[in-house]
Formats: sequence, structure tokens, C-alpha cells
Amino acid sequence: TGRCVVAVDGPSGSGKSTVSRRLAAGIGARYLDTGAMYRAMTWAVLRSGVDPADAESVAKVAGEADLRIGTDPQGYGVTVDGTSVDAEIRGPEVTAAVSAVAAVAAVRALLVARQRDMIANAGRIVVEGRDIGSVVAPDADLKVYLTASEAARAARRSAEDATDVAATAADLARRDRLDSTRKADPLQQSADAVVLDTTELGIDEVVDRLRDLLVERG
Ligand code: C5P
Repeated sequence: TGRCVVAVDGPSGSGKSTVSRRLAAGIGARYLDTGAMYRAMTWAVLRSGVDPADAESVAKVAGEADLRIGTDPQGYGVTVDGTSVDAEIRGPEVTAAVSAVAAVAAVRALLVARQRDMIANAGRIVVEGRDIGSVVAPDADLKVYLTASEAARAARRSAEDATDVAATAADLARRDRLDSTRKADPLQQSADAVVLDTTELGIDEVVDRLRDLLVERG
């Protein structure tokens, strides 16, 4: 089993996490959820009482936080300064503030460096996020860009989180706008990415297609 890096990018609710975890488990690879890293930094920022819009203070908190994350596709833990934050990083407070924290260039520089280290040490790994194929791992063996209609994305997220569809749709639209228009490493589709629309395709079909592509590419 040689080195193999799969980059999975796309907007919120496109099925990235489920597809990436299942693909990683299926091919015996590690799995890195970079969104969880931005969420954990956001938790640290909120804990410190710093305004997420205050880039300088946000960068300082991020520089001092000891963030750890596992890479087991069957279940990984995230800790900040020794505190487990797995549940907290999925809460509404972190979700509301994460795009602001992720827009701070110094935070991105820090996390992208960590992500590259983890990828270099992993051998085989599926990495999901917004800028993996474009910035973190431009030499990935396979780049995937997952999309889905706004309605399908909102329906999936609200089912997962047991929240109201309209409120979820509004939150996804807000985050997508912030993530796509920020100056530092915006969400973008790499020219060499395989684009899959998951509106009609089932998750298993998407995972099967990606496995086939990996086999084709050796
Ligand atoms: O994927 P997830 O929804 O958990 O990501 C949370 C947020 O983290 C995104 O809305 C985005 O602002 C940020 N993010 C990012 N770059 C990544 C992964 C996530 O900016 N590679």
C-alpha cells in the first residue's frame, strides 16, 4: 500500500463527510476532517471571549491553542488544550462563527501547515474540506468536488441535525457565500477535480464511483 491522497472538496451538505469517511474505511486509508479543525479553533476563540471578527485576536488565540485530531475514519476525537470538543464543535454557536474564523489568513496558514504534515505522515488518506485540491494537497492522486442542489443539501443537514429546513437552508447559504467569497483560500473547484452532483446519486453510488476511479488510476 503506497502513498495515496484523495482530496474531497465541496460546499456544506454536499455529502462530503459521509462519502469521505466511507471511502477511507473501504480502502483502508486514514481520514482527515479539516472542517473539524476550523471548528475546533472556533471553539477556542469563543471560549476565550474574543470577537470572531477581530482577526488579530483570533490569530493569537489560534497560535496558542493546542489542537489535536485523530484520523480514524470509524471515529476520531478532537481536543483543544486537552479538552474533548467533539460535541461542542457541532453546536450552533460554533457553526455560526466558523466562517469568520476560517477567513483569517493566519489561522489558515497554521492549519494548512498542520494538514500537510498529517498528510505527509499518513501514506493513504482521504482529506475533506474546501481548499484541499486547490491549496492543501494540489498534488493529490484524486481530486473530487461534490455538489448538490441547495434544497437537497438543506434537507440532508436538517435531517442530520434535527433542525428546521428553512433555518438550515439560510445558514448553509450564508456559510457558502462567506466561504466562496473570502480572500484567503476560498472554496473553489479545481480544474482537475472530478465533479459529482449528489442530488440524485445515492451516497453508496458516489463512494463506488470514487473507488472505481482510484482503481482506474492505479
Ligand atoms: O465542513 P464543515 O462544514 O465542518 O466546515 C466548517 C467551516 O470550516 C466551513 O464553513 C468553512 O468556513 C471552514 N472550512 C474551511 N476550509 C476547510 C474546511 C472547512 O474554510 N478546508
